Amino acid sequence: MPSLQEKASEWSGVATTDAFAIDDADLFHNLGLQTFVNLSTNFYNRVYNDEEEWFRSIFAKSEKQNAIQNQYEFLVQRLGGPPLYSHRRGHPALIARHRPFPVTHEAAERWLHHMGQALDTTSDIDDESKVKLMNFFRHTAYFLVAGVEQKDQNLHTPCKDAALKQHPC
Ligand code: HEM
Repeated sequence: MPSLQEKASEWSGVATTDAFAIDDADLFHNLGLQTFVNLSTNFYNRVYNDEEEWFRSIFAKSEKQNAIQNQYEFLVQRLGGPPLYSHRRGHPALIARHRPFPVTHEAAERWLHHMGQALDTTSDIDDESKVKLMNFFRHTAYFLVAGVEQKDQNLHTPCKDAALKQHPC
């Protein structure tokens, strides 16, 4: 049976090595905290204003400002900055935290559409960093689709990819 990482690569079209090129890029130090605050704000402004009601409604129970903070703190931590997210929220446990939501292929594409636009319209993100971030986002989005799907299929199987550093389950 393919692993979650293998499914993520197949579905996203992004090889694992390209997805984790972020690990050699020190993006937090190159781009700075404010860029990630701006990127997350830009992204969630698009999500909360989405004309597609089915997608907007996935976020209906979350307060926008809180969602922005969750995301930029996660990104800062994941991209080489201080562990802001874990100090406030604990282990990222991204699959478990996405389980309440319908993280389908369609939702992943819509999420990525908004993130692509946010990356293109946030100042101070050079093209090389943009490509690296988008590869990471694409792969992670489909990792979440695969992980949520698997957990829904078998609620009692512990996440076998928990030992993988890159995408904490
Ligand atoms: C939280 C949906 C992909 C990282 C959330 C929330 C929703 C959601 C509804 C709750 C908002 C909040 O309270 O923070 C989705 C959907 C995705 C997706 C439909 C499509 C695949 C991603 C990706 C990443 C990500 C690709 C990371 C690269 C996060 C983080 C949180 C979050 C860090 C905050 C979790 C928490 O602290 O509770 N997501 N997400 N998500 N998402 Fe996603």
